[in-house]
This record gives sequence, C-alpha cells and structure tokens, in this order.
Amino acid sequence: MTNQAFTRAMPSSPSIQGESPFSSLLALQQASQPLAQEIPIIDGQSPPQPAHGRARSVSIPGSANAPRVLQPFNTENIRILLLENVSQGAVKMLREQGFEVDFFTGAWSEEELVSKIGDYHAIGIRSKTRMTKRVFDAAHQLLVVGCFCIGTNQVDLEAASKRGIAVFNSPFANSRSVAELVIGELVCLARQLADRSMEMRHGTWNKVSKGCYELRGKLLGIVGYGHIGSQLSVLAEAMGMQVIYHDVLPLMPLGSARQADSLEELLSVADFVSLHVPELPETRGMIGAKELAQMKPGSYLINNARGSVVDIPALIEALKSKHLAGCAIDVYPREPAKNGEGAFSNELNEWASELQKQSNVIMTPHIGGSTEEAQRLIGIEVGNALCRYINFGGSIGAVNFPEVNIRPITEQETRSIRICYVHHNQPGALLAVNEIIGRHNVDKQSTDSLKEIAYLLADISDVSESDIQDIYMRLSKTPANILTRLLS
Ligand SMILES: NC(=O)c1ccc[n+]([C@@H]2O[C@H](COP(=O)([O-])OP(=O)(O)OC[C@H]3O[C@@H](n4cnc5c(N)ncnc54)[C@H](O)[C@@H]3O)[C@@H](O)[C@H]2O)c1
Repeated sequence: MTNQAFTRAMPSSPSIQGESPFSSLLALQQASQPLAQEIPIIDGQSPPQPAHGRARSVSIPGSANAPRVLQPFNTENIRILLLENVSQGAVKMLREQGFEVDFFTGAWSEEELVSKIGDYHAIGIRSKTRMTKRVFDAAHQLLVVGCFCIGTNQVDLEAASKRGIAVFNSPFANSRSVAELVIGELVCLARQLADRSMEMRHGTWNKVSKGCYELRGKLLGIVGYGHIGSQLSVLAEAMGMQVIYHDVLPLMPLGSARQADSLEELLSVADFVSLHVPELPETRGMIGAKELAQMKPGSYLINNARGSVVDIPALIEALKSKHLAGCAIDVYPREPAKNGEGAFSNELNEWASELQKQSNVIMTPHIGGSTEEAQRLIGIEVGNALCRYINFGGSIGAVNFPEVNIRPITEQETRSIRICYVHHNQPGALLAVNEIIGRHNVDKQSTDSLKEIAYLLADISDVSESDIQDIYMRLSKTPANILTRLLS
C-alpha cells in the first residue's frame, strides 16, 4: 500500500486498512520543510520546475504574498501510467514534476488494466483504452484520469465519480485546426477544386471559370459561434469575407461580424453556411429539407460539427437539383470504427454512394481537429489538468466531477494544509466536516456538488502535527467520505 495521505472509502469497508498513510506528512513536518502552496498553472506553460527530484517549495519572485507551489507531501511515490502514445510534451511535463511516469505507445486491454492499474495514482489515455467499472474497481489508488483527446465515451464516468476519481479531457484544443480546415474548404468549394483534382488524376483537362468564385466579398454564415465558430469568423474576415452568425446565446461579435436574428435569416442570405453547433437533442436534424430550401440558390454547406446535425438524404436532393452548388462534410451519422479501404460504404450509411457521386462534394474522414498542433495542445492542457488536480486539488474542467478551486496559499502561510474531500452529496455531510475542521482556523473553503458527488477544498492554517493527524483520520471516517487527501 502507498503511504500517500489519502483514504478512499472502499465498497466493502469504510476506509483503507493498514499502515497509517500519514507517516510521510509527519516525517515531512518533522524535517521542518516549509509547507508548499499553490501557484496557478498557466495554459501552455509548465509550473516552475526543480532542477532534479521534486522541490517542496518553489517561489515566484516578489512579495511574501506570492503563491507557492502546493504539492502532495509524498510526491516521490506518485505513479502515472500513460498509454496510447500521448504527446511527448505531456510526458516531459509530468516527469519534470517529479512523478514516476510509465509510458506505453499502445492501448491496454481490460485484463491488463485490471491487473496493473492498482499501482498507479493517475492514468493518461486516448480513445482506445476502455476504463470500465471493472478497471475502476481494481484502481485502489487512482485519483485522476486524463483523456488526451476530445471525447470521454471510453470512460465509465459514473464508475469514476462513484470512486471519487476525477476525469479530465481537452474539448477545445483543436478549435483552430477545425477553423483552418473550413477556410480551406471554402476555397476548395468556391473553385470546385475537388472535382478538378479528381479529373486531372484521371487525365482530364477541364479549364473552366464558370461557377468558380473568389471568397472576397462573399457572406459566410456561421451556425454556432463558440470556440470554433468565432475563430472561423476572424479568419474569414481576414480573407475579405463578411460574416453573419446564429447562436442560441446573444454573443459579442468579433470584428465586423453580426449576429442574425434567426437561423432562417442566416440561411436566406449566406453564400456559405458552416455548422459549428454541439450534438444536442435540439441540433439533431437541425439542417433538413426545409432549412436547405431556405438556403440561397447556389450557396454551399459545410458540416464539421456532428453527423447528426444534417439530414444527408435531403442534402443529396439539394445537390442533385443544383439548389446547392456544393458541400463539404467531415462528420457522419455513422462513422467507421477504424481506418481502411471500403470502410465508408452503403452498409454503414445507405446513402454513401449517392453522396460520393455528386459534383463539388468534399468528403473527409472526421479530420477537422486532427493535426500535430492540436495533439500537442491537448498534451499540454490535459497534462496541466493532471498536475493541478494531483498537486493542488483544483478540479476546474473535470467532466464527471464538481468543479472547485480556491485561491492559493501564500509564502507567508507556512503552516497551512489543504484538505481535498470527495464525498457523497448527502444531508449532514458538511455538518460532519465542519464539526471536525470548525475548531481550527479555516482560511478558506469552497464546495460544490454534481449529482451524487460533492467536493470540498479547504485551507487550514496554524495546525500542529497532531491536529493534522486528527483531522485526517476523522475526515476519512465520516459516513459521506469517498476520498480524503491532504496536501501540504
Ligand atoms: N470535425 C472535427 O474533427 C471536430 C473537432 C472539434 C469539434 N467538433 C465539433 O464542433 C462543434 C462545435 O465545437 P466548439 O468547440 O466550437 O463548441 P462550443 O461549445 O465552443 O460552441 C458551440 C456553440 O454552439 C451554440 N449552440 C448550441 N446549440 C445551438 C443551437 N441549437 N443553435 C445555434 N447555436 C447553438 C452554443 O451556444 C455555442 O456558442 C461540436 O459539435 C464539436 O463536436 C468537430
């Protein structure tokens, strides 16, 4: 068993039995080490790093009020398993933090995970490793899962939450990649590039200008003005386009863009319509026969959002009738599970061959966000999230977990500890906690809940060794406890 200072309530017993997990904290304090404090990790940057090993305290130059890096007291033993060839930037960042990192290029099977996950405090995966309930049941020390990708379907989020394990992903690191792909598609559609290129590959010389246009001065309609839609807006204006957008929220326009009063208005005036809405019940079938008919004759449709947003048979009809001059599609209602010849066929989507036959159609295999840069950013973002959660307890950005953060402990506060208490969201839970910590000087405290799980962060100052041990033991034994950690 690790001597990390955390206790998870096990399904079969109220707390982990055995040697006190507190010994390292006491040892640390006996050695009169300063109690380290938190420094926010800025996106894209690693926190200050020790030259070797794991520093107890790293100061930001400046006043005594500067925040200090807060670390688990027994950092040497934090073990992280990274699978599926996650970005080397993340591997480097985590090793520089002093964590013990085991890196593997492939995914692990459920059996392999069940037999080895018990050794690790954190795991980093991409889309092929399945974190099932069985795996979580075997993960006695696991604190956090980092999905180095967009989706989290491969993780049983409920099983993770029940064990107090936070799950992080990186939903927006590839926004720029998608926005740039759309710019490419706008040019390709306006100039019929896909068709000309296909003809040349078959030896056909077809030099035409009819029906080919510049983007300059054309109106781009963006549906969904979020991370991708708003970036696209800026890029399109730089190409000399005008931008109109539709969103369910009233959003501030960037540049000279303007928000349309309705989707119908946007569809009726835009030369190009690009979809950037999430997959929701309201966006399912959002662009069907009626909406396609509302689009300007000779306009183009681009879908890099989700396959369910567009009714593709209706789109095929709009292309056949020449009401639409072309389309670019990156996402489909059903997508092949793996790469390979013949993977995209009528067996998967009954209209596949019909769409393939239409002119000025660009079809791509869900590559909107697939760039080296996006992978690197995902590595930084998820790597930071893991560091933040392990070192400081901050759970902002977790997908299955209440999002809680509190301001850093400063250099001056030399005898402060941070309590990270994951618990069942049940009546009396906070009363029990406050009975334990209420006698002490609670500098700050924040709590939130998400469905059945709640999470509390609290900083306590001026505590003695015996106080700390008492707080830890008593919190671990509260009826609502799922996982108690102490950071110093
Ligand atoms: N093709 C790819 O590889 C790829 C990569 C990344 C993201 N995506 C997809 O792109 C889409 C947008 O991503 P994002 O990061 O910009 O998301 P986002 O959450 O930042 O933005 C979505 C926007 O859509 C708006 N919206 C929600 N419902 C709406 C509705 N019914 N009508 C109009 N607007 C609505 C929201 O208010 C928000 O502003 C998502 O579906 C995502 O899955 C695809």
